[in-house]
Amino acid sequence: MKKPLALAVSAVERLRMWLLTQRWFTSVLLPALPRQLRWFLRKVYLAPVDLADRLLGRRNTDLPPKAGTFTGAVHDFAASGEALLDALRDTAGLTASSHILDIGCGVGRLAVPASRFLDADGSYEGIDIVPEGIAWCKQHISGPHDNVHFTLADVYNKEYNPKGTLKASDYRLPYEDQTFDVIVLISVFTHMLPAEVEQYIGEIGRVLKQGGRVFASYFLITPESHQLMDSPASGMRFKHHVVPHWVISPKVPELAVAYDEPYIRELYVKSGLSGEPDFYVGAWCGRAGHWPTDSGLGDQDTLVAAKL
Ligand SMILES: C[S@@+](CC[C@H](N)C(=O)[O-])C[C@H]1O[C@@H](n2cnc3c(N)ncnc32)[C@H](O)[C@@H]1O
Repeated sequence: MKKPLALAVSAVERLRMWLLTQRWFTSVLLPALPRQLRWFLRKVYLAPVDLADRLLGRRNTDLPPKAGTFTGAVHDFAASGEALLDALRDTAGLTASSHILDIGCGVGRLAVPASRFLDADGSYEGIDIVPEGIAWCKQHISGPHDNVHFTLADVYNKEYNPKGTLKASDYRLPYEDQTFDVIVLISVFTHMLPAEVEQYIGEIGRVLKQGGRVFASYFLITPESHQLMDSPASGMRFKHHVVPHWVISPKVPELAVAYDEPYIRELYVKSGLSGEPDFYVGAWCGRAGHWPTDSGLGDQDTLVAAKL
């Protein structure tokens, strides 16, 4: 009984991962469905997987349930968090005594391994706009040093927090100037509009220490990705371009947003960050990405920039 159940669960999970690489699914079907229906269908699809995991005795209560994970599909949530931590150590100078800010921390993909990695001199701050995600993180993630904290921001986003009352384009991050060594945004600017990204990059410049680094993922439109995204191998197709951004769905633009790469570099320079960030290409437009595909970082482009 256990084996067929395990096989069925793995088939359901593989089907989901496959669907999310299909352009007709991500760029045609998903945008056509109302937001509430999409969020409901995801829960309905994944609730039996959680139940099966429990029956198979492999439900790890240190990790969020799959049906409560609204932050995109990764093959292995725990392993992708570890891979992210490794990437931050390798490229953004993260150490055990760093002060980290994780903007758009979701359901704690980075917070779980960071809470174990940091020593008593380090700290982790996670901020997000989805109440259920922050509630889960507060309840389940602490670490041994009382240096892991989560903040709920009541900020509007049509996809993630349609009931939010504050505008991201005016939002001041609730931290002092020059507080953090490393700031992380994984798949957050891919859901934000230009005035909002501009405000957040300005705020990042303010709260990052001099010499600190920001590690942020994007869909960046360069001459190469522009050409590739129209080919059948591309997983995403941004059809609607209003300089400086591109969207899949004008109805819910926050579903996926790409940026003209020079615009992001300009914002970095305006905010005191290096305009020549390290650029790690993503696989989203059908090319080989820098990070392994199952790391949860693979599909998007990543920029790592220092504060000057
Ligand atoms: C695709 S999820 C990624 C979550 C997490 N970074 C990860 O990699 O698992 C995008 C996250 O960005 C958050 N988000 C969207 N707009 C935001 C904003 N203006 N401020 C903070 N977080 C935001 C969403 O609530 C969501 O948790």
